[in-house]
Amino acid sequence: MNKALLRELSQTYPSFYLYDEATLAQRSDKLRRDLPAAELLYSVKCNPAPAVLRTLFAHGLGSDAASLGEVECSARLGLKPHQIYYSTPGKSQADLAAALPLSTLVADSLGELDRIQAIAAGLGKPVAVGLRVNPDYSFGGGKGSPSKFGVDEEQALEALAQKGRWPNVTVVGLHVHLRSQELHAPTLAAYYEALVAMALRFQSVLGRELEFLNLGSGLGIPYAPEDGELDTAALGATLGALKAKLPRTRLLLETGRYAAGPSGVYVTQVMDKKVSQGKTFVILNATLNGFLRPSLAQLVKGYSANPAPCEPLFTCTDPFRILALTDAGETETVTLVGSLCTAADVVAKDVNLPRLEVGDAVALTHAGSYAATLSPVLFSSQVPPAQLFLTREGQVLDATL
Ligand SMILES: Cc1ncc(COP(=O)(O)O)c(C=O)c1O
Repeated sequence: MNKALLRELSQTYPSFYLYDEATLAQRSDKLRRDLPAAELLYSVKCNPAPAVLRTLFAHGLGSDAASLGEVECSARLGLKPHQIYYSTPGKSQADLAAALPLSTLVADSLGELDRIQAIAAGLGKPVAVGLRVNPDYSFGGGKGSPSKFGVDEEQALEALAQKGRWPNVTVVGLHVHLRSQELHAPTLAAYYEALVAMALRFQSVLGRELEFLNLGSGLGIPYAPEDGELDTAALGATLGALKAKLPRTRLLLETGRYAAGPSGVYVTQVMDKKVSQGKTFVILNATLNGFLRPSLAQLVKGYSANPAPCEPLFTCTDPFRILALTDAGETETVTLVGSLCTAADVVAKDVNLPRLEVGDAVALTHAGSYAATLSPVLFSSQVPPAQLFLTREGQVLDATL
């Protein structure tokens, strides 16, 4: 992180994200190197800024799209239908029809397969799709559980065994996503093994090989100071061995935060400072409404001593590093808050930082994923943060163009 650059930019932008091209490139290249048996898709929802998408697509990632908008944006940036996977519950008929020529549709229910059949019959064409499955097992092992995502494995196997139920639609691939933010490679490896075993069950019912198996995400990044790095090389070895069981099936892996999370930083200016009953408050620009997750972490922390993660809104109680952009040598214990009319607009309580004054700025890490896109920027009609992009050559561009 270039502190001088962040300080300089904060004089122009009261709050901004800065996404770093070099980090995006380095992280996506590392994944492709460590996981050669899998094709990687970028989960656009986590940061759809066009400059970020262009970088990750140029480094060989396809698109995991969760809306027609994400499908269209990925297609506009040059990806082909076999590189864009459109998977989400509750797609409308209009969404399905518009996405069909641009992407690989992944049906989320048997009813959706009926609706795709109606569209395909209307066009008089065969359509190859994926099906999202809710497996019979859970992420950490054990039985599966009810889910709004996908079709229960048993139901799906039974339905696909009925020949001719969808005359224009062929299910050629499966998609499963059960968990985000896993840092323990053996747990992820066991999950992948279970998925491949499931794919083999489907193949024997279908009587043919699957064209793709989308293993979903799970690739975690360190947030809390005690978190370690995920061993992606070990995962690569597991995937290489599993590939031998499905030699003609493309293994797909989705990633949002791993590719983009550490590439971004959020910078917000100190607008005011005051002492109330002995406590020093530093009031920052666009906090809860510019970068929601730090305030959510504070909120959850206040309600439970040991809260469970709920991705992508809440990971852990201490997920962001805070950097005071000042040369002050002296430190001070302060509470960082925003300007909104809600007590929930708190970034950090009683943290010891170099002394901040009005006009200084504060940087927050892990702002490349589930950050700008997840924040209620319309609240209170304030100016939303800028989204900037630092090129490898050191140029600062508008990331949204
Ligand atoms: C279906 C699906 N795939 C992939 C992801 C990306 O997860 P992550 O950002 O943890 O890689 C998500 C996140 O919500 C998801 O719902």
